[in-house]
Amino acid sequence: MSVALREWRQLDNEQREAVRALALPPEQEPFAGSMAEAIAVCGHADPAALRGYAVYHAATPVGFFILKAAPATPDWADDGTVTLHAFRIDARQQGRGHARAALATLAELARRDWPATRQLMLSVNMRNLAALGLYLACGWRDTGRQIPGPIGPQHLLDYPL
Ligand SMILES: CC(C)(COP(=O)(O)OP(=O)(O)OC[C@H]1O[C@@H](n2cnc3c(N)ncnc32)[C@H](O)[C@@H]1OP(=O)(O)O)[C@@H](O)C(=O)NCCC(=O)NCCS
Repeated sequence: MSVALREWRQLDNEQREAVRALALPPEQEPFAGSMAEAIAVCGHADPAALRGYAVYHAATPVGFFILKAAPATPDWADDGTVTLHAFRIDARQQGRGHARAALATLAELARRDWPATRQLMLSVNMRNLAALGLYLACGWRDTGRQIPGPIGPQHLLDYPL
């Protein structure tokens, strides 16, 4: 399964509408937040510190995520860290390897856009076993640190570059 990434800022209006329509089942949405929230964050941000990326399979948008670098990173991020947020694969596209393929692009993407990056980090709700299993299967490590999240405690994971 191969995917390509396109930065939110560079999408035209038609492409943005298609990305805006990416959907999650109600039980998954609290784990990643809504697309409207994610897009609003991208619209206001300084691209030097925060960028949204649509995940495409051929011409179809199948997912989305945000990367943050200093000074936009959360308090829990160590120096030299790029953090992953709002990661989701559209409900109709799940189970096809798109998330695994998107995660495989992150190291190169972070190094390209923020060359001083030493590691990636993310937080994942402890009840989100699908995402946790995905990250661990893709080489992320549980740091053993936990933080409170909007709907319960979150594991902090890292991925050294
Ligand atoms: C988690 C999520 C991104 C996975 O997307 P996906 O494209 O379906 O995942 P993939 O098809 O690439 O699966 C890769 C691996 O993830 C794990 N995985 C994916 N869905 C899973 C599930 N429902 N239960 C258990 N493991 C799962 C498996 O390890 C799987 O590998 P396998 O197919 O070899 O078993 C998707 O379910 C999603 O968008 N969830 C809602 C938002 C969310 O939770 N985001 C993470 C926020 S931290």
